[in-house]
Amino acid sequence: MKEEYFFYKDNILHYKISDKESLSFDFLKGRLFNRLKRIEHESLIKKAIGKNKAQLKIFDATAGSLIDTIIFLKLGHKVVACEQSKILYRLLNDAILRAKKEYDFFDNLSFINSDSAVIIDSYLDSDIFYFDPMFEDVKQNTKRSGTLQKIGNVLSFEKLEDTSAQIFDHILKKKYKKVIVKRPIKSNPLYEKINYQVKGKAIRYDVYVKT
Ligand SMILES: C[S@@+](CC[C@H](N)C(=O)[O-])C[C@H]1O[C@@H](n2cnc3c(N)ncnc32)[C@H](O)[C@@H]1O
Repeated sequence: MKEEYFFYKDNILHYKISDKESLSFDFLKGRLFNRLKRIEHESLIKKAIGKNKAQLKIFDATAGSLIDTIIFLKLGHKVVACEQSKILYRLLNDAILRAKKEYDFFDNLSFINSDSAVIIDSYLDSDIFYFDPMFEDVKQNTKRSGTLQKIGNVLSFEKLEDTSAQIFDHILKKKYKKVIVKRPIKSNPLYEKINYQVKGKAIRYDVYVKT
């Protein structure tokens, strides 16, 4: 992480990716904001969570750009979101600080900068463990543009690997209530014995329930 690559533009913290590109997050306007507005329609993830009126404790082991975490928060749940990247963490904390004034639900978020493997056992009482591993094509397909590609760039600057599949294996050996894994629609499951799946056009949620 190069300190001199952080800069503010229009009051928003950015990190320089190349001479032409930078990464920043803003929940108050732009693409992320538009998704936030449409979150009511994010029915796939709602189905994966299941019908539940009670407030759930969700551990998001792969926070990324916090989109999925924000869906959980908007649905009224409490979230512990963990992201290993120091760069992403700083950019997102900046976005959260600005968005907190508009959205009360951020009060239900605990955002932690760590390898999830180090902290997950402190949250074994979570109702849901959520994993969204980086899709392979993000690494391979250099043409793919957008935030996910830039997140891939940032992770390689920081020499970080996506190790969420190992953490998923670890959690499956524990006493859990529900584990949800987001996967590309045609990819193999991380573990075959899925209890149910919620399928969209490009992605699906594999849901594991301990009986
Ligand atoms: C595909 S992104 C997640 C996107 C996220 N669900 C969203 O809605 O924006 C995967 C993220 O998980 C993070 N990650 C992978 N392994 C991790 C680990 N062991 N601990 C913490 N974060 C991890 C990566 O750094 C990356 O930011």
